[in-house]
Amino acid sequence: MARVFISRDLPFPALDRLKEQHEVDVWEERTPPPADAFLARAQEADALLLTVTEKVDGDFLDQAPSVRAIANCAVGTDNIDLEAAAQRDIPVGNTPGVLTDATADIAFALLLAIARRLPEGEAEVREGRWAPWHPGHMLGGDLADTTLGIIGWGRIGQAMARRGEGFGMKIVHSSRSSGIPLDELLETSDHVSLHTPLTPETKHLMGAPQFARMKKTAYFVNTSRGGTVDQAALKDALKNGEIAGAGLDVTDPEPLPADDPLLTAPNLLVVPHVGSATVRTRSRMADLAVDNLLAALAGDEMPNRVA
Ligand code: GLV
Ligand code: GLV
Repeated sequence: MARVFISRDLPFPALDRLKEQHEVDVWEERTPPPADAFLARAQEADALLLTVTEKVDGDFLDQAPSVRAIANCAVGTDNIDLEAAAQRDIPVGNTPGVLTDATADIAFALLLAIARRLPEGEAEVREGRWAPWHPGHMLGGDLADTTLGIIGWGRIGQAMARRGEGFGMKIVHSSRSSGIPLDELLETSDHVSLHTPLTPETKHLMGAPQFARMKKTAYFVNTSRGGTVDQAALKDALKNGEIAGAGLDVTDPEPLPADDPLLTAPNLLVVPHVGSATVRTRSRMADLAVDNLLAALAGDEMPNRVA
């Protein structure tokens, strides 16, 4: 029987399977454990079940030498230094596949909502500013017969492509190993959606030069990680009309403070990192995270191991 620290109460059946076999120490608060509390609890644990808010690096692992397996309840693992874990023979698992459709749904919802100006329209209605129908009122961008550029061609990027095809869009993509060069994608796409993991290579992948290459009528969507976008550059691009609008599910930092300069930009829709936030998806993510831990603690290979 091992001791597992779980950094947030996961209200799903998966946790019961873990509890049947192991001792479970759950961080019961809605907010993430502060760094010192996280370390103290990890020092008493054989394994960790984490969410995207917990940062783990080599120093942390050296100070918590009892930890021998980590399951991230997320597909992205940028919160964990995978190299540092590998050097210490600590397997790290993630939860791919089960959140693909939910995340692509949010990406497409952001694209539709921002292109058709839904947040502005709703505000008009609720604030009593709904003027009689006018042919020039709240005109937005089209999706059918336009080109959707997808950066990153993993599961979620391809699921976004299927949604675009369903709406009559032509799809182009750019990734490390396939598709067209990024600059060409930015110049030719009518809308752009970002689906790369956050790595040293993709940090600020979208910056001032990249937004400048996009069409002035283009909408930009990010459901990957906030760090893939230079937010100051995005704010400027929106303010200067270099792009038509943006929809974000992720920011840097998260939560984004209400007085962050980004929120002064026009034509911007931000939602609070809800890409995988459906009942079924979150439950399946917990299942995969627990499967990874149970395997590692039994001395087997994690079914979804990333390092
Ligand atoms: C959520 O952002 C995830 O990576 O699963
Ligand atoms: C608009 O409501 C239309 O009927 O064209």
